[in-house]
Amino acid sequence: MILVTGATGLNGGELLRRLSKRGVKVRALVRSRAKAEALAALPGVELAEGDLGKPQSLGDALRGVTRAMLISSSDPKMGEVQCRFTDACVEAKVPHLVKLSGIIPELDSPFRFARMHAEIEQYIEKSGLAFTHLRAGEFMHSYFRQAGVIAAKGILPLPMGDARIACIDVGDIAEVSVQVLTGSGHENKSYALTGPEALTMSEVAQRLSQVTGRTIGYVDLEPEEARAARLAAGMPAYNADALDELFAERRKGKESKVWDTLETVFKLKPTTFLDFAKRWAPVFRGEQPPPKP
Ligand SMILES: NC(=O)c1ccc[n+]([C@@H]2O[C@H](COP(=O)([O-])OP(=O)(O)OC[C@H]3O[C@@H](n4cnc5c(N)ncnc54)[C@H](OP(=O)(O)O)[C@@H]3O)[C@@H](O)[C@H]2O)c1
Repeated sequence: MILVTGATGLNGGELLRRLSKRGVKVRALVRSRAKAEALAALPGVELAEGDLGKPQSLGDALRGVTRAMLISSSDPKMGEVQCRFTDACVEAKVPHLVKLSGIIPELDSPFRFARMHAEIEQYIEKSGLAFTHLRAGEFMHSYFRQAGVIAAKGILPLPMGDARIACIDVGDIAEVSVQVLTGSGHENKSYALTGPEALTMSEVAQRLSQVTGRTIGYVDLEPEEARAARLAAGMPAYNADALDELFAERRKGKESKVWDTLETVFKLKPTTFLDFAKRWAPVFRGEQPPPKP
């Protein structure tokens, strides 16, 4: 049995839909069944209730599990929660743990979640479980945060300077995850995953202009302006600070490397940003809201 955690979230939901479509039987871990009715309706998907950070709540969820996909929110508890889930997998003798990680996990990174991902990866590696770390670049879905201002004002305001970034479609992460969870030969490997190109924000804006039929211009925000805008939009200070750290790294070009893992290891054709933007043009034109996970 495969267990997918983070099931009500962006990547977990995408992965479950794809496993279900392929006829793979899968269990979804949720904190509340009430939030997961759509998942429960997917063919071959069963639900188990539990909290990743509370191993005593995971007995039923982990029974008979051969591979588990570990995903949880970017929040202050991410490190603690994911390490406790690892403990529970060891206890339940789950043979193989697959973790959704960040593109550059580093113990001394200035970005708090990159440090946490590095700590969690080390913890998993020391646990004795077979592991696969899926180190994903920026999700293309992240641009939905700017969808409102893109549609209303025709601008893409971000504190990126002229740096390039190699983002990835969550559908491609899900395809890789399907292969790792249902295939063989991925034990004790770490894979860096990006799309096929590294774009500047001017290039992203140009592609958004192309698909929306409107002129969208990149506005290079000062980091303080960007932070103030996040706080004004109601983002908690912890998250606003984390994004500050992240964009400082990105502005230096830290996430500009393109990895060909999708093609070479998984034989997948990675989605371009233009294809992603075409698919979601109505969102960037303000005609429909961004998709819910
Ligand atoms: N944003 C990016 O560009 C990016 C890039 C690379 C990697 N990442 C990493 O991707 C991960 C987030 O993935 P995502 O965006 O797919 O997730 P998401 O949409 O934020 O959803 C998080 C999921 O985790 C679940 N969860 C959180 N705490 C839990 C707990 N204690 N017990 C059980 N379930 C719990 C949530 O359940 P509830 O519905 O119950 O809250 C939800 O299903 C983070 O580790 C982040 O660092 C992000």
